[in-house]
Amino acid sequence: MTDATATGIGTATATAHPNVALSKYWGKRSGGGKIPAVPSLSVTLAGLETRTQVTFDASLVEDRFVLDGREADPLARARVVELLDRVRAGAGEERRAEVRSENDFPTASGLASSASGFAALALAATRAAGLDWDAPRVSDLARRSSASAARSLFGGFVELAAGEPGARDEELFAARPVAAADHLPLVILVCVTTEGRKAVGSSEGMARTLAVSPYARAWLDEAPRIHARLRDALLARDFGEVGELAEASALAMHASAIAAGVMYWNGATLEALGALRALRAGGTLAFATIDAGPHVKVLARPGDLARVRSAMKSVPGVLRVLEARPGEGAALVASRASGAPSLAAARGSVA
Ligand code: DP6
Repeated sequence: MTDATATGIGTATATAHPNVALSKYWGKRSGGGKIPAVPSLSVTLAGLETRTQVTFDASLVEDRFVLDGREADPLARARVVELLDRVRAGAGEERRAEVRSENDFPTASGLASSASGFAALALAATRAAGLDWDAPRVSDLARRSSASAARSLFGGFVELAAGEPGARDEELFAARPVAAADHLPLVILVCVTTEGRKAVGSSEGMARTLAVSPYARAWLDEAPRIHARLRDALLARDFGEVGELAEASALAMHASAIAAGVMYWNGATLEALGALRALRAGGTLAFATIDAGPHVKVLARPGDLARVRSAMKSVPGVLRVLEARPGEGAALVASRASGAPSLAAARGSVA
């Protein structure tokens, strides 16, 4: 990928997809950095994509970050520069970079673009700098920017363990694939309940929960138990059990957050939860998961898609329903000149 080094330019482009956690990561170890205090298990989503190009260029005097065609705000740029600095340190690279990133899903869709964004950036930046890091190392790099991004490096169902107490951010700490995308037939319906951005970011929300919530200890004790059972149910391809446990994980996470005054829900969130209970009472298995926002992500079986979709569309306050399926992990986009290798080579070392 760095065949252009002689000309002062090294470039690579990568794609990655958002993921939705079935068992939630909420809370960090206290040693600093982004080491989760609880294990999580997510599904990577097909059909929604971030595409990021990184170009190290000797003629640049500072890093640039262009997001969806516009110069990004200083905060977003600072997080990108932080990742680029880690790559430069690893590669002995001194050049500044231009990063161009596009999401084909709207920021207010209820799907965090940070997971797919940092996964695509980590892969593109390492390759543009000529680093041949394997998938766990790239996942670890993404994790240091946003822990949920570590999972988007891989496709299908992906786990991020909890760090040991005292674990340090500098140690390698990566996500790992648990099952392929076709392991469990599943459709994910994102029920959008607001066009606005969330008031409290997830880093801040989880920190406040652990610091203030009277139920923080209960969450930290219960999350690993839910996670272990959900993992077993997934491996047994038991959709009903996976769905029940995913909803239980989200409700426990939000209960602990709400008790700390960290409230992400709106009225439509509750209406949507009610609609799912009604569907289940009528014999249709469909379950909710909710992240650091008011949107409800519904897990359903593909055969029930039409019924569940129409039920969710008619929920008061649900503005739009997006549909996603389990999908693949981050990948390099072949450049015209070099026919870039896919991450599959690196992924082979963990699969
Ligand atoms: C509710 O990965 O965004 O989506 O590591 O602080 O960047 P940082 O947090 P982030 O948190 C995601 C929280 C969640 C649950 C999950 O994805 O597991």
